[in-house]
Amino acid sequence: MSTYLTTPIYYASGSPHLGHAYTTFVADCYKRYLRLTGHEVYLTTGTDEHGQKIERSAAHAGQPVQAFVDQRSRGFSDLWQALDIDVDYFARTSSQDHHAFVTSFWQRLAAAGDLYKGQYQGSYCVDCEQYYTDLDACPVHERALEIFTEPSWFFRLSRYQEKLIHLLESQPDFITPAARRNEVLAFLRSGPLRDLSVSRVSTSWGVSVPGDRDHVVYVWVDALTSYLSVLGAFGSEALSERWQNTIHFIGKDILIFHAVYWPALLWSAGLPLPDRLIVNGWLTVEGRKIAKSNPETIIDPVALTQQFGVDGVKYYFARAVKLGSDLDYQSAQLVELLNSDLSNNIGNLFSRFIGLFHRHFPDGIEVPTLDCHFTVGERLKTVRDEIPGWQSALESADLAGASQTVLAIARYLNADIQQQAPWQWQQEPLAGYLWELHQCLRILGVLISCLTPELSQRALAQLGVHGDQEFSSLADDQNAVRVYPGEPLFARLAPGS
Ligand code: MSP
Repeated sequence: MSTYLTTPIYYASGSPHLGHAYTTFVADCYKRYLRLTGHEVYLTTGTDEHGQKIERSAAHAGQPVQAFVDQRSRGFSDLWQALDIDVDYFARTSSQDHHAFVTSFWQRLAAAGDLYKGQYQGSYCVDCEQYYTDLDACPVHERALEIFTEPSWFFRLSRYQEKLIHLLESQPDFITPAARRNEVLAFLRSGPLRDLSVSRVSTSWGVSVPGDRDHVVYVWVDALTSYLSVLGAFGSEALSERWQNTIHFIGKDILIFHAVYWPALLWSAGLPLPDRLIVNGWLTVEGRKIAKSNPETIIDPVALTQQFGVDGVKYYFARAVKLGSDLDYQSAQLVELLNSDLSNNIGNLFSRFIGLFHRHFPDGIEVPTLDCHFTVGERLKTVRDEIPGWQSALESADLAGASQTVLAIARYLNADIQQQAPWQWQQEPLAGYLWELHQCLRILGVLISCLTPELSQRALAQLGVHGDQEFSSLADDQNAVRVYPGEPLFARLAPGS
């Protein structure tokens, strides 16, 4: 069965920033992990192009809305290419197919008796496209809320409160990390759920409500259904096959939309729920969320990868942040981590090994049947024993845990080389030792491929291992091994770069 991974569809109101790239990196690492371990996997991302926020941004830019979103959307699709992120589907909510899908989704909610018309009065944040109660300012955008009073269609969210609580209690894995699940449960238990306002008359930029053309469908209902519409119409093969096993990668700011509104909407429409939500924290700069509304926090992901390499930036995010926690971006910390882990630890391990191997055995080594003064296999067993831990870290998208495992292997091998001092040995035991290290480094090179794909490819090429390594082959020894010296895996960065 295939797995379907999604990132949020990002607002096509501005240029992509590092915060958007971060969630997409996490999803990309997870996709690479699943593919490496033999799964069929699809990744979808896209742009959220309707609603008042977009309409206002286009007006501000002095452009027709469609031309504005076309351009902004391209900014995102180009970015994923530049960051070597392999996207299978790209959703755009202004597309005709999506419009048709939202219309039929709405009709399903209506047929379930879950829609009714009323009047809404409340404080609204246009940047979040969300009403807030009991607040004067938006907690995310730190701006005054706008008071809206308007007729609105409502969705009977209150009907689903008990069912939602039961979902989270009976499926503890539905939300990772657990602290986020507890947060949603606390919210659900804190009092009766209010029905959700699901249409707007304050903008016409969206999908018209069937049979009531003064209203457009609330942009969040519109956006959430893009996860389905991008797979094709109801009943299509892709929809029924891929939707069965879906994981949404999201930031903590949009948790309630995905953990409360979305399951209730899907139940109402008679559709299955996604399997899991994997929730990341915020990237901040000097403690403030990286966001378009805080222009001084904006970091351009492309400029950053030009400076530190795509692998360097991906690795930093994997290693420096525990999934779900916030990370305050600091370039000095990034430089220090990349130097210590990729350049010193992993990079030096490969250089030392490749140099020594090539000096003594330029034509390679056949599986040794040599009488060594140490046990061939001891190191290999130690390294192979790390694989299950690496795998269970990645299962829960714990990229920091996975990178710790890779680092631990590299440290162990570096220390072993230091202790054995093989450069003083005779040819014969040396062959056995280097043959075994070759197997160990192949494992290291494969395990790091989810986090730093390009670096991994170069590392494996130096070991003469080509193409995507089958994860399952890591349990087997390679008989004849060779090395192909190349450039250092990661050039040391000057402090302050
Ligand atoms: N369009 C909605 C999502 C609809 S999904 C059906 C939206 N878009 S957004 O452009 O604001 O992007 C939200 C997502 O981008 C966050 O949930 C998070 O995944 C990512 N991030 C945006 N800024 C971020 C940080 N500063 N830090 C980490 N992730 C951030 O909300």
